[in-house]
Amino acid sequence: MMDRVKIERFPEIPYAMEEAINRLRINISFLGSNIRKIMIVSSMPNEGKSFVTMQLWHQMAQAECPVVLLDADLRKSVLADQYGLVLESGKKMKGTSHFLAGDRPIEEAILHTDLEQGDILPNTDNVVSPSMLLDNGRLQELLDYMKKNYRYVFIDAPPLNLVSDGERIGSLCDGAILVVRGGSTSVRMIKNSIRQLERAGCPLLGIVLNRVEGKKGGYYYKKYGGKYYYGSKYYRGAE
Ligand SMILES: Nc1ncnc2c1ncn2[C@@H]1O[C@H](COP(=O)(O)OP(=O)(O)O)[C@@H](O)[C@H]1O
Ligand SMILES: [Mg+2]
Repeated sequence: MMDRVKIERFPEIPYAMEEAINRLRINISFLGSNIRKIMIVSSMPNEGKSFVTMQLWHQMAQAECPVVLLDADLRKSVLADQYGLVLESGKKMKGTSHFLAGDRPIEEAILHTDLEQGDILPNTDNVVSPSMLLDNGRLQELLDYMKKNYRYVFIDAPPLNLVSDGERIGSLCDGAILVVRGGSTSVRMIKNSIRQLERAGCPLLGIVLNRVEGKKGGYYYKKYGGKYYYGSKYYRGAE
């Protein structure tokens, strides 16, 4: 019997945010059947890539749509720790970096979860210099497999600002959703990220304005929720 992953700390989110993620999910489903491998990316760390990816993945699976989350933040992923991902068997979980290093076949690497339609491949051991892992052909093989076997592949990417990992991953995806942290990412950084995606040949599907603070401030969205913008509307609007 296949070992499964439990998610011990999946956050409860306010209704307005759930609605925002739901709208994003529906907008994605209107993109057409060729758009399957979708990278969730941002200019800087901490803008909410992993948060948005997890929520979207979870809702998509709950809507009975076969979906897999690929954690491709090979240097600094905290996903498995933050969300409390553990194997039911109690064994040590292996993740993306192990797979890319060639330790197992794809079918064994991708893990099932409590969600019938939601599979996942977290990155459980970060690496200092993933260039070779990203260039040895295994990532492409993995993404091809995922594209064939799931309706959507959500790729939790590293930030674009520091190293070229994000661009390399983007060159293998059908499109990207750019997460922008409200009030903290500069227009220059956003433009830069858009240029990087263009260079990678990765179409920009939309921009999520995340972590917008309500009137009183505070951590969660209050009334604004996550907003989804088609194309590069927000970017133009902010110019
Ligand atoms: N919309 C949100 N509401 C509440 N907390 C959020 C939201 N987006 C991100 N966070 C929190 O902010 C922190 C950074 O988000 P994370 O998704 O890890 O960023 P990234 O993957 O871009 O580095 C995490 O603790 C995450 O739970
Ligand atoms: Mg992250």
